[in-house]
Amino acid sequence: MCSKNNQNISQLDFLDLLNQNIQHPELQQKFAIDVLIGLSHSPKWLPCKYIYDEQGSHLFGQIMKLPEYYLTNCETEILETHKRKIIDTIGRQKINLVELGAGNGEKTKILLQEMIEKKTQFTLIPIDISHTALETFSKNLKARIPGIHIKGLVSEYFKGLKWLSNQNHCTNVVLFLGSNIGNFEPPEADVFLSSLWNACNDGDYLLIGFDLKKDIRLLLDAYNDSKGITALFNLNLLSRINRELDGNFNLDQFKYYGTYDSFSGAIKSYLISQQKQSVTIDKLSRIFTFKSWESIHTESSYKYLIDDIEELAQKNGFVIIEHFFDSRYYFVDSLWQVQKK
Ligand SMILES: C[S@@+](CC[C@H](N)C(=O)[O-])C[C@H]1O[C@@H](n2cnc3c(N)ncnc32)[C@H](O)[C@@H]1O
Repeated sequence: MCSKNNQNISQLDFLDLLNQNIQHPELQQKFAIDVLIGLSHSPKWLPCKYIYDEQGSHLFGQIMKLPEYYLTNCETEILETHKRKIIDTIGRQKINLVELGAGNGEKTKILLQEMIEKKTQFTLIPIDISHTALETFSKNLKARIPGIHIKGLVSEYFKGLKWLSNQNHCTNVVLFLGSNIGNFEPPEADVFLSSLWNACNDGDYLLIGFDLKKDIRLLLDAYNDSKGITALFNLNLLSRINRELDGNFNLDQFKYYGTYDSFSGAIKSYLISQQKQSVTIDKLSRIFTFKSWESIHTESSYKYLIDDIEELAQKNGFVIIEHFFDSRYYFVDSLWQVQKK
């Protein structure tokens, strides 16, 4: 691996993913603090990254297969169609292929197979807050690409970025797929991209997936699937609080509601209390009260215009190499390069 120094990341963080099942006390403590902050706030909210525990990651795997959730098919089509051009542009030198919020690796493997064919030398470093996601990623890729070496890091994006900033001998190619960027509020997206720019070297690449603005009915269908999996996915936040923080949320008393806010250009997801109620969370030593119809904001999924994307790249120090669209222009994977000189 092209490493300057790895002092900021403990050895335990790098997992031999198939052989270990390590708890992450730092992440668990942060979960408790964020739940306390979010449920004490008015209006109430919970960060969507906590949906992705074992159960949440499995549910997201099911969402990816839903016909209404067009995002996965669109991005798969983009990568299948343009993999040659993407890999040719990135080059054949030694690269660190870093995937932030990697998920199950279904789409990553399209690029990897092309890289292997082109004999590109790479080190693969998926970074994800979810241990389960990384385990699935690893199993999935090892089954398809025998002998592949994966260095998974269970961490939040920012710790991953800190690690990245210590790599300076290889070209870094960062994948940020699946419209993960859409979960950031706009000011957070800027902070994320400028931190990524800081962590990278001149000439490094970013392949970033954006869900584009489109007919609102299509957006609403994608986040209100007929099987109710998206509802279970969001409700998993409450189940996780029950499991890990000894909460007593009654899941039947909360209903999922996903709507499109045309002013901000985002799908906003909520869990709505069906009645006046109190919820005790023992590990926080707190009781939280809910009014009838009070909501918890659980996720934002921002949709973009190409103009927004170009502005975002430019103001954060990236040069756009090319936009790769699917045939319906629903989604774009945009290839950017870090410009520091
Ligand atoms: C919407 S899924 C997309 C997965 C994958 N990129 C894809 O395109 O299929 C988001 C992934 O990012 C991870 N994730 C969400 N927030 C994160 C954070 N703050 N830090 C690290 N990983 C995060 C989740 O565990 C999940 O695997």
